[in-house]
Amino acid sequence: MPNSFLIVANWKMNGSRSLAAELLAALKLKHHTWPKLKLIICPPNLYLASAHNTLHGTNLSVGAQDLWFGSAPATGNTSADMLKDIGAEFVIIGHSERRQLNLESDLVITSKLNAAIEHELVPILCVGESIEQRRSGNTLAVIRQQLQGAISLIRARPQAKIIIAYEPIWCVGTGSRASSIDIKIVHAFIKNLFMQYNTSVQVLYGGSVNANNVADIAAIEFVDGVIVGGASICKTSILCLCDRAELGISSKGVLQVC
Ligand code: PGA
Repeated sequence: MPNSFLIVANWKMNGSRSLAAELLAALKLKHHTWPKLKLIICPPNLYLASAHNTLHGTNLSVGAQDLWFGSAPATGNTSADMLKDIGAEFVIIGHSERRQLNLESDLVITSKLNAAIEHELVPILCVGESIEQRRSGNTLAVIRQQLQGAISLIRARPQAKIIIAYEPIWCVGTGSRASSIDIKIVHAFIKNLFMQYNTSVQVLYGGSVNANNVADIAAIEFVDGVIVGGASICKTSILCLCDRAELGISSKGVLQVC
C-alpha cells in the first residue's frame, strides 16, 4: 500500500442494489489494469456486506462512511465491531457533511477515531475549511484545530495508522476544486504537522475530483490519493477517472483525453 495512489470512492447516500452491483462488477473486472492504484469503496452501510462479498479475493477494499463509538444503546448507529465483522477495513470520519448535518464536533470525531483505531479499522479523517475561513486567511489554523484529536491519539499510539483527507468545504460537490498550489500548501502543512510526532501520514485531496482533473491533482507534490464523491457513483466516470489517475501517476504530466 505505501506506493499505491489511493482512490476512495465515497458513494455518500447514493445507490441501490442494482447500481451497487453494476459499479462493483465493473471495478472488479477492470482493477487489474490499475496496478498503481489502491481502491477503497465506501458504499452506504446497507450495501457494505454485498460489496465485501463481491470484492473478496481482489485487492479492492471496502470502507464505511461513518461509525458510532461506545457500547451504550445507540439506536440506528453502527459500531466499529460490526463494520469489522462484515469486512470493512477503512472508515471515513468527520466528513464535512456529517459535521454540518449531524452537528459533529471535534470531540465526537476524536471518539470515533479512537473507536476505529481500537478495532483496527483505518480511519480516513476529513478536514477542510469553509470559504469564509479561507477568505479570512484562517485555513491552516482551522486544519490544525481539526487535527488536534488525531495528533493526540497518534502521540498515545504511535503505531496507529490514520489517513487524512483534505476536503475544502467549498469544493465538495460544487464542481470547483482547490488550486494546485493551495492543495500543495495544505498537504505539506498536514504532513509536517504529523512529522513533528515522527508519524508519516498519507494525505488525500477531495472536492470535485473527476476524470478531467484527477491526473493534474495526482501530479501535485504531497498528494497521496483522492477521495471522490459524485464521480464515483457513475460507472463511466469512475472507470475513466481510474484510467486517468493510473496514467497521471505514471507520467506525472497533464492528460487531456481519456
Ligand atoms: P465530491 O465529494 O467529489 O462530490 O465533491 C467528495 C466528498 O464529499 O468526499
